[in-house]
Amino acid sequence: MRVLITGGNGYIGSHTCIELLAAGHAVTIVDNLSNSSPAVVERIARIAGRQPEFHQLDVRDAAGLERLFARQAFDALIHFAGVKAVAESVADPLKYYSNNVCGSALLFDAALRHGVTRLVFSSSATVYGEAARSPIGEDAPLAPANPYGRSKRMVEELLADLCRANPGLRAVALRYFNPVGAHPSGRVGEAPGGIPDNLMPYLCQVAVGRLPELTVFGNDYPTPDGTAIRDYIHVVDLAQGHLKAFDYLEREGGMHFINLGTGRGTSVLELLAAFERVNGVRIPHRMGARRPGDTTETYADAARAAQQLGWSTRLSLEDMCRDAWCWQKLNPAGYA
Ligand SMILES: NC(=O)c1ccc[n+]([C@@H]2O[C@H](COP(=O)([O-])OP(=O)(O)OC[C@H]3O[C@@H](n4cnc5c(N)ncnc54)[C@H](O)[C@@H]3O)[C@@H](O)[C@H]2O)c1
Repeated sequence: MRVLITGGNGYIGSHTCIELLAAGHAVTIVDNLSNSSPAVVERIARIAGRQPEFHQLDVRDAAGLERLFARQAFDALIHFAGVKAVAESVADPLKYYSNNVCGSALLFDAALRHGVTRLVFSSSATVYGEAARSPIGEDAPLAPANPYGRSKRMVEELLADLCRANPGLRAVALRYFNPVGAHPSGRVGEAPGGIPDNLMPYLCQVAVGRLPELTVFGNDYPTPDGTAIRDYIHVVDLAQGHLKAFDYLEREGGMHFINLGTGRGTSVLELLAAFERVNGVRIPHRMGARRPGDTTETYADAARAAQQLGWSTRLSLEDMCRDAWCWQKLNPAGYA
């Protein structure tokens, strides 16, 4: 298959490109490079042994999309491109509705007009909101608590409406939990611009000396060690979930919502201890106040992915810590 990947230079997109190329698919990347480096394309090619095609293009550029689809036929689309920082989405909601919602609508319009019938969309566990009880199944109430989460839910609804209106269309919205880690080669990984929002990249930047210490946001949660619990999933497992979603869409029509998580919760202190143990490093850290909007405990019910996609995670918390650190050590300044 020839697969169009939007946001393919980004963290999850780059790992998925590698898996798709390794499985024999042809890959075309579209990325505006707003949160990624052009160097990623060569890294993907070196790992996979095959070259993806790359176009620097914004998914809101309708004319550019039209030229792309007119030139080449695609069998499937995986739509990663978007913006993803919760706090920024509260401060600048238009950026989120423009990139994530308008961008998706323009992209799906072009894809449908050019006969693409299989769509995989990067959604997020944020669509469940703050009150959801773990393990969170796909039928849990949806109450996204910020513009980022609402933008993801809107695109899910848009896709569901498109599937209802176009019986030939097949789509999966994959709701990711907390992707961490990196390709085991250490050549691609997560390279956030500025101060990382998420725990693992922050921890890596403390370990490599770019940041002085880690602040643990809250140690008075009602959890065994007082720190918040999340479902960390290795990005390579996550990438492989996308290939399984493709196979599924060969068999099944309509719209599907599927969690990608391990189904296990890990606390901040457990992740910190695993990172120190596996990598033989010390992470200076101190306890701080809870952050507004953070939940106590969020982890997936991963049963639907197992039953419907035949997918479950294989890589451990230790693999996540080892691979994240390997990437950070080899690339202390990211792709710069
Ligand atoms: N990383 C996570 O924790 C997480 C969790 C849940 C869902 N997601 C979703 O998964 C997707 C990928 O996330 P990621 O962590 O790889 O993010 P990322 O920022 O590393 O990758 C996104 C890529 O999309 C590109 N992009 C952004 N807006 C674009 C636009 N308008 N046109 C073209 N390209 C554009 C960026 O340059 C970047 O390369 C996003 O949609 C994100 O919301 C991520």
